[in-house]
Amino acid sequence: MADTGKVDQPYTPPPLWYKDAIVYQIHVRTFYDSNGDGVGDFQGLIQKLDYIQNLGVTAIWLLPFYPSPLKDDGYDISDYNSIHPSYGTLDDFRAFLQEAHRRGLHVITEAVVNHTSDQHPWFQESRSSKDNPRRNWYVWSDTDDRYRGVRIIFVDTELSNWSWDPVSKAYYWHRFFSHQPDLNFDNPEVCEAVWNILKFWMEMGVDGMRLDAVPYLVEREGTSCENLPETHEILKFLRKRVDEYFPNRMLLAEANQWPSDVRPYFGEGDECHMAFHFPLMPRMFMGIQLEDRKPIVDILQQTPAIPDMCQWAIFLRNHDELTLEMVTDEERDYMYDSYAKDSSMRINVGIRRRLAPLLDNDRRKIELMNGLLMSLSGTPIVYYGDEIGMGDNIYLGDRKGVRTPMQWSGGWTGGFSLADPERLYSPVVSNIMYCPQAVNVISEQRSAHSLLSWMKLLIRTRRKVKAFGSGTTEFLHPENHRVLAYVRKLGSETILVVNNLSASAQAVEIDLRKFRGAIPVEMSGGSIFPRIGELPYLLTLGPYQFFWFRLRRI
Ligand code: GLC
Repeated sequence: MADTGKVDQPYTPPPLWYKDAIVYQIHVRTFYDSNGDGVGDFQGLIQKLDYIQNLGVTAIWLLPFYPSPLKDDGYDISDYNSIHPSYGTLDDFRAFLQEAHRRGLHVITEAVVNHTSDQHPWFQESRSSKDNPRRNWYVWSDTDDRYRGVRIIFVDTELSNWSWDPVSKAYYWHRFFSHQPDLNFDNPEVCEAVWNILKFWMEMGVDGMRLDAVPYLVEREGTSCENLPETHEILKFLRKRVDEYFPNRMLLAEANQWPSDVRPYFGEGDECHMAFHFPLMPRMFMGIQLEDRKPIVDILQQTPAIPDMCQWAIFLRNHDELTLEMVTDEERDYMYDSYAKDSSMRINVGIRRRLAPLLDNDRRKIELMNGLLMSLSGTPIVYYGDEIGMGDNIYLGDRKGVRTPMQWSGGWTGGFSLADPERLYSPVVSNIMYCPQAVNVISEQRSAHSLLSWMKLLIRTRRKVKAFGSGTTEFLHPENHRVLAYVRKLGSETILVVNNLSASAQAVEIDLRKFRGAIPVEMSGGSIFPRIGELPYLLTLGPYQFFWFRLRRI
């Protein structure tokens, strides 16, 4: 398929920008309301770009901001080429993009293309009659027994992947909510339409796009309808077009799968540039709960190598539940038991809580987890509000509890909006530990010891190390399994990372003979540690403490 459409290419980001990026994930709706209507908007986001730049991150990932009935917070899109009116206009988006780029911040937006909203004109046409030219844009069936055995993702709300459409008197296929019919990627017109969505936003200048729910594009009888070869063909087609028209832009796969099934989404460097590492995330939480490095090391050792220009996206929390799809049944029970005793904390196959409450608001655990996020292999993503230790509201329903207004200051609306608190799109977190009076940006900016100040230091330190983004990772195997140690290396740069995953002080002896003669320099304060010799290197660490050492050869 050759595309003949002209492309206006105003801008090219630097090659491989995503490999050294630090991403900040934001929902426009939740960040800052500039016009007092109770809903965050692009003008508000523009006003907060200095904050984001000052945090030290290098890229912003925005959740869907397109016209939508908002039954899945915007993942149900009814128009791909516009902006939801409550967030602003296309001109506001352009202004945001320009202001972000001016500050050196790359922008990643969402391509939710597995499905549309049932309010999208494509679906309205498709359902209108069996001979409508768009009939074949969705997956229709006279019966609901095709693709039997395919798992249901939103198990708390959906009983089947098929829903009956009373208008056209047939069933349509959907992997998510029943108001999100799946597009039919067997239809080349759909593939072209999806390319046009990517082209529209890339022409405007977005640096990368997250491909939502990418394993589910194609359906085949007798399979799980996930990760099919035909799905990979479509990704190769889209990637080819992107490379042709928009060099250095990035595609990020949301494939919540085991590492061996995610690996093909990178192809031979001809599918997605990046993919989330879903199975790693729960294992980091398991690691500190068990006080044992095994879950983390095991999953990373099972992770296949990826092409040089590709990169993993790693994260602690995001806008969804802490998913437990990529763990064993036993591990899931352990996670629920450790992190979600109250059933209101659970949703679908996961846990709907934010980072700080998950970690008992224990500053040492929060620091350790962020330390792992910033030093393990991959591009780290920080979820908005987690840099100040925001809390959640598990009683809000669906995943709304982790999408409450950003807390800028100590007022009733947390400084998010000038509207009355009742008018906000969501209540602000109001419990005594995490309410805006207890947790907010302004007060954390005043203290050099706040979590926010500490996060800035961590991010700045990470940015000094090229090896964290692009280097190799070698796990070390000290006898003390409560300690997780690894070496990140790129060219002559060698970084030793040592983490105490336990709640008690630990001593550890590490075999560092191959670095004999080097001097470890602790990176947060620049202190010199004893030169590495022949004997096992002895370190002591306080509860949940971690060190990053630059190994200096003299
Ligand atoms: C992705 C999104 C999630 C959304 C779903 C359906 O998994 O992360 O928020 O509900 O897709 O679009």
